[in-house]
Amino acid sequence: MTPRRTYLTTPIYYASGDPHIGHAYTTVLADVLARFHRQDGAEVLFLTGTDEHGPKIQEEAERRGLAPIELCDLMAERFQAAWERLDISHDRFIRTTEAEHIAVVTAFVQRLADLGHIYQGEYSGWYCIHEERYWTEKDLGPDNTCPDCGRPVRYVEESNYFFRMSAFQDDLLRHIEENPDWIVPEMRRNEIIGFLQQPLGDLSISRPRARVSWGIPLPFDDQHVAYVWVDALINYLTASGAIRPDAPVGQQGFEDTTGSWWPADLHIMGKDIITTHAVYWPTLLMAVGLPVQRQILAHGWWVVGDTKMSKSLGNVIDPMALRETFGTDAVRWYLMREMPTGGDASFTPERFLTRYDELANVLGNLASRVMSMVGKYRGGVVPAAPGIGLDASIQTAFADARTAMGAYKVHDAMAAAMDLARAANGYVEERQPWSQAKSSEDQEGLDETLASLCRSLVALCALFQPVAPKKMEELVSRLGLGEVPTLDQAVALPVAGLSATKGDPLFPRIDSPWSSTDTGAD
Ligand code: MSP
Repeated sequence: MTPRRTYLTTPIYYASGDPHIGHAYTTVLADVLARFHRQDGAEVLFLTGTDEHGPKIQEEAERRGLAPIELCDLMAERFQAAWERLDISHDRFIRTTEAEHIAVVTAFVQRLADLGHIYQGEYSGWYCIHEERYWTEKDLGPDNTCPDCGRPVRYVEESNYFFRMSAFQDDLLRHIEENPDWIVPEMRRNEIIGFLQQPLGDLSISRPRARVSWGIPLPFDDQHVAYVWVDALINYLTASGAIRPDAPVGQQGFEDTTGSWWPADLHIMGKDIITTHAVYWPTLLMAVGLPVQRQILAHGWWVVGDTKMSKSLGNVIDPMALRETFGTDAVRWYLMREMPTGGDASFTPERFLTRYDELANVLGNLASRVMSMVGKYRGGVVPAAPGIGLDASIQTAFADARTAMGAYKVHDAMAAAMDLARAANGYVEERQPWSQAKSSEDQEGLDETLASLCRSLVALCALFQPVAPKKMEELVSRLGLGEVPTLDQAVALPVAGLSATKGDPLFPRIDSPWSSTDTGAD
């Protein structure tokens, strides 16, 4: 049987600033889904990368006294280093300054033009560099500011090339209506349907080179560069391997994507950039004759306390600093457990510590007491007994976690896993292995208790693996197993005879780095 294939993407991050908790969230979410699919037997292409063209990068490079490509090299490296430290298992890191991507963008724009979807026109309006988008006057905030980020917008009047996006409005609306799960969650779908019920304008897809020099020149007019969002969205296609820009026109892959990873199965992003992914991107794809992406998942927004995170407020949360103190898996766990996919969440030190304590006190504690009892009562060897005492809880946890993961509700899947760990701790209290150990008649009972607990640990390794891969590898090796089992294997894996070692606490006690500043205590 050929394995199921899944192509997952994160947005590509602007190479103008350092990775923060928002970027980390999108990327960890995608990573968890990628790991879950791999563990479930699928072949996965997981793509992330950096968005490196446009005025935002150009201006930031100027501010730092660097050439744009120097800034991009620096930032691409920082993002890669951050993802390595957060244990992101991407298969490909794309940079929009790569020659291959530039060639695909060029072929794409040429095809749009060849098919008659592009015309030249005059643009006048308000532009926000930070968001890299135009606004109409009625949308602006007070004193001509961007309604999204609050920064001043600029009035721009210039000649641009336009894509006839309006011609695809009805097709797109029909597609969304016929495919109720195309955009999840539903709230975002409704937002896009609402947007499409207003007349859809055409999309300016170029910028004069005289104003924006850092971009991909249009193949039919090198005095203009591609609008950075058009350039950026095409990254998903470049990495899919569907387009062969060097082939003669007609054989470049626009007609047939067989053998490539296109269409992507899931584009993951924050709610702030859904319009580009759910309107610009599919209409561009329809125009060149390619199938649209299979699904879009828009997640919520991290705020700090009740304030938006921003450089100017100095409240940007650095995931790397958290990781230094608590470890990678604790940061991943917090991000996944605290934010219901699709909703917003607020970062607070208290919530971070509460979530960490849950890991340490429930899962960590279970692991260490089970290992220690197997050591103390059975010389470190898991006894041969059916070990079915926690089967009902294991079955429930697997069913709930699978359903939740299928609906991208990672927070619910992790809650189901934690419930199993709680049930196993409850089972210890109920069975009182320390009393069983003292009674010569209850030795079989003790074997059953320990075997049941070890089976639950194996199940927990499989359930927590996508979110806490390193710690679960560690736990699996302490259980004497070679690798983390798949969900299917984990249900029926024999544990008799495995040699268990206790080791240091999986999630050690950590002094809060915030306590003195936050509580004002000495
Ligand atoms: N370069 C574009 C994307 C192009 S994709 C073809 C871009 N980049 S970005 O650097 O601004 O980061 C995008 C991702 O980070 C989005 O998914 C966005 O939602 C996420 N986040 C940035 N700040 C965030 C929070 N405070 N909270 C949650 N996610 C946020 O947009």
